[in-house]
Amino acid sequence: MTATTTNGGADGLGLGKDLTGLQHLTRDQIEGILDTAEPFKEISERRIKKVPVLRGKTIVNLFLEPSTRTRISFEFAEKRLSADTVNIASSGSSVEKGESLVDTARNLEAMRIDMVVIRHGSSGAAQFLADRIPSNVINAGDGPHEHPTQALLDLLTIRDRFGSIAGRRVCIVGDVRHSRVARSDIWGLLRCGAEVAVCGPKTLIPMGIEELGVTVISRVEEAIEWAEVLYVLRLQLERMDAGFVPSLREYNRVFGVSRARLERAPEDIAVLHPGPMNRGVEIDSDVADGPWSLILPQVTNGVAVRMAVLYLLAGGSPERAESAKEARE
Ligand code: CP
Repeated sequence: MTATTTNGGADGLGLGKDLTGLQHLTRDQIEGILDTAEPFKEISERRIKKVPVLRGKTIVNLFLEPSTRTRISFEFAEKRLSADTVNIASSGSSVEKGESLVDTARNLEAMRIDMVVIRHGSSGAAQFLADRIPSNVINAGDGPHEHPTQALLDLLTIRDRFGSIAGRRVCIVGDVRHSRVARSDIWGLLRCGAEVAVCGPKTLIPMGIEELGVTVISRVEEAIEWAEVLYVLRLQLERMDAGFVPSLREYNRVFGVSRARLERAPEDIAVLHPGPMNRGVEIDSDVADGPWSLILPQVTNGVAVRMAVLYLLAGGSPERAESAKEARE
């Protein structure tokens, strides 16, 4: 979070101008965002899914890396709050001609925007932008660094399922090394009092991760025995500059989350995945579509969480969220 409060910042949670990560948020701030998301869930169930909460605000979705869920979820959240939105991708924009991130943003600012939602391939890109423009900046994933709204929707989904996050045993399985989702989830889960473990090939577990307060489990069978929540990650082949696993088939044999493995779980285990999934590699279809899966509820919660973040950064307060959602045009 930056200290600047040029735009918004009067959110009642002390979030400041931007949401660039969860690392520096307090438990009260994280839980305050989740509480704010609760009343917004219902808006997406209405026949007319629209409230005038952000009427007159202009939001730019600047996605310079591919995305399905996050981009569309932000766009739905913005439209359901009545904001005016513009989508920019690197393909077809002047980024392709070599324009810098700051120049792109300054030109957008010159058109009098209020918020930027940014996905970028480089760690720190969201903070870099947040430090240079007065608009609110929301990080929609910056390289392998953080993906705060993904972690918030994950926390909300765990809270919905178990009633609380504190004390839950959550194991993140897969390519932790290259995952911004893992990083944000670890910060958020630990801050909210969960026990966190990671499991995967040694090559894909960052050295020294235990120093964060995370346990390393080497076998997926052991992870399934320990965890109440299994958070499955895909292999991020696009970020790998070397052979981190012998083959995808070998990875599935040793670390794949399968029905056979889950049926040996001692308790009712919940399976989450941020998507996109590689079925038959890190997760089998029987699991992704089976009774353990909370993967689609995660996606549904993503819209409410993003509505909450947009509302709070625009100056809304958690206490007023209930009445804000009842406002009519
Ligand atoms: N979970 C997630 O970030 O998915 P997308 O890459 O499709 O946005």
